[in-house]
Amino acid sequence: MIKQKTIDSVLSAIQIEDVIGDFVSLRKQGRDFVGICPFHDDKNPSLHVSPRLGIYKCFVCDAAGNSVKFLMEHEKMSYPEAIEYLAKKYGIQLEYENSESEEERRERTLRESLFIVNEFAEKFFINQLKNTEEGKLIGLSYLKERGFKDSTIDKFKLGYCPDSWDSFTQEALKQGYKEEYLIELGLTGKSQNGKLYDIYRGRVIFPIHNDAGKVIGFGGRILKKDSKDPRKYVNSRENTIYHKSDTLYGIFHAKSAIHKDDNVYLVEGYTDVISMHESGIENVVASSGTSLTSGQIRMISKRTKNITVLYDGDRAGIKASMRGIDMLLENDLKIRVCLLPDGEDPDSFAKKHRDSELKEYLSQESKDFLLFKTDILSEEAGSDPIKRANMVNEILKSISCVKDNIERAFYVKECSKIFGLSENDLNLNLRRYVWNKIKEQNAHSKTTQESPSLNTNTQTHSTTPQIIDTKPSLQETRSDLLFESEKDILGLLINYGNIEILINNNEEESNVTRIDQFVCDQIQKGEISFHYSILQKIFDLYTNWASYILNQEQIIRNFTNYDEPEVSDFIIKNIIKEEPKYSEHWVKKYDIYTHTTRNNIRILQNMVQNVILSYKLRVLEQEAENIQKLINNKELPEESVNIGLFQISEINKSKLAISALLNRVVSKV
Ligand code: UTP
Ligand code: MN
Repeated sequence: MIKQKTIDSVLSAIQIEDVIGDFVSLRKQGRDFVGICPFHDDKNPSLHVSPRLGIYKCFVCDAAGNSVKFLMEHEKMSYPEAIEYLAKKYGIQLEYENSESEEERRERTLRESLFIVNEFAEKFFINQLKNTEEGKLIGLSYLKERGFKDSTIDKFKLGYCPDSWDSFTQEALKQGYKEEYLIELGLTGKSQNGKLYDIYRGRVIFPIHNDAGKVIGFGGRILKKDSKDPRKYVNSRENTIYHKSDTLYGIFHAKSAIHKDDNVYLVEGYTDVISMHESGIENVVASSGTSLTSGQIRMISKRTKNITVLYDGDRAGIKASMRGIDMLLENDLKIRVCLLPDGEDPDSFAKKHRDSELKEYLSQESKDFLLFKTDILSEEAGSDPIKRANMVNEILKSISCVKDNIERAFYVKECSKIFGLSENDLNLNLRRYVWNKIKEQNAHSKTTQESPSLNTNTQTHSTTPQIIDTKPSLQETRSDLLFESEKDILGLLINYGNIEILINNNEEESNVTRIDQFVCDQIQKGEISFHYSILQKIFDLYTNWASYILNQEQIIRNFTNYDEPEVSDFIIKNIIKEEPKYSEHWVKKYDIYTHTTRNNIRILQNMVQNVILSYKLRVLEQEAENIQKLINNKELPEESVNIGLFQISEINKSKLAISALLNRVVSKV
């Protein structure tokens, strides 16, 4: 354990704006700093950093804390790692106590030792490349032949491992590095008769750095064509500090350019990253030959929501990797695709063209992923009707991964143009995929929720440290206003779910959406959540049925006949409007333009907005009330009280804005 005394001196040295400024670009605003919040999809700078209080606070998501918390959340460091990182940053020597548990100590020393051994190996390989005859003749000349500049070789710390049985291993042992660590890291192998050998012998070395710039592993490229070893690259084996699935090659050198460009290029290989850098494009990372993992996606999405995937010219791999891209869509990332000319990869293409040509190519040829996919599949399906039908469904499945309903509507429009199918037909199938997805998510969240009866806010940042918890609390009885609001939402869903209304997204834009779809979108975005188990249960049932029952009346009948009285009674007493058939009339397409229908839809439209806005208002009221209670009752430190008061004033601002909207809606009726 680190001695508290030295922790204190680290903590007092911290300038929070320096710490956060290493990861987020901050702008001074009054006494504070502001920046784009890295914990949610932030458009405007909502992250406030207060040097005076030593804290950060996002006013959109719940992220808040001090410098240490920031490192723990953003860089996924453990507490001691964060302290060690800060100590290094401020040049403070840490002292350790012996009281940490044996296991903790072993784990920490193992990680530390592995990093130290890797650092040694990195230096050794660099020295071999630059300062030995063999290294210069074989390794360096290979890299030069490929056109890499000295400065790039230095920047990426490329190296060379001599082509002898064990010269690296012997040197490491001589310097006192333990055999077990060398083996654990995959630097050294042990033959059956117990002889140690260099795994990377005769290869040029590409060190792999984590996003803090520490070397976590190595890729080694073979040079000799006649080698018996068929592997072009040898990579580090999995160990405590290297997890392939959480690694993106190049992330350390790409970080600041990603922030600047708000985009990242995704390529396949080490050399692709390096060549792009040489051409002046630094926001580039490689997945290292495999399809993207969710860990890698998380690493990207906390930095930018925009990815451009660069594809090699040969088509073989493209289809296979498309499935992986659907996963990106689900993570709300905006994906573009850039196809390189036949037979080129980013490395070879960059080498053959001027920097300006490469940049121009990337900006001209990058296409929206879904439109790209449509093109590719369409080409493949030709005119075979069955293949084309499958293709359309394949694409609708991808579209269903897009969370934003406006974007989805846009894609449906495009697809309808491309395939000559009506938007209605496309929407019908799309709806199935969307609902299936919601159903799956519900099933999943139910199995992962600890206490299903208390469904707390489902936002993704619920684990973020909070200075003051502002979630609506649940001690209230069911007669409370929030409950009524949530009930109203279910009422809309069940009575009028299948009716299409016009939703105004802002002054200019509006789009047609089914009411149930609209509500689900709001839930997925975290704008709405049900706080009462009975309401959540009814919502789950609805999403389940709506995924395959197209007739709204049938859904209502399912509810009223449901064999748990808790549900059926509740529905009958609280949810169903007198005339359940009412809604059925409205959807009849031929009836939709009659005067009364249009009028009814207009009323319904206002009702939806009214219900949702009232709900939001009540959540805010509850939040403000909770904060006020905390401030009144607890002996809070002054800074927390100040933050609390600030939060309340922010909430009041939002409340005013919503009230104004509500007035507009109400006055329209
Ligand atoms: P490539 O075969 O495209 O290699 O594999 P490359 O990066 O273009 O390398 P050069 O230009 O031929 O030298 C792409 C990535 O897949 C991983 C590596 O990360 C490589 O950069 N890979 C490939 C392996 O891990 N092992 C292999 O045997 C081959
Ligand atoms: Mn290549």
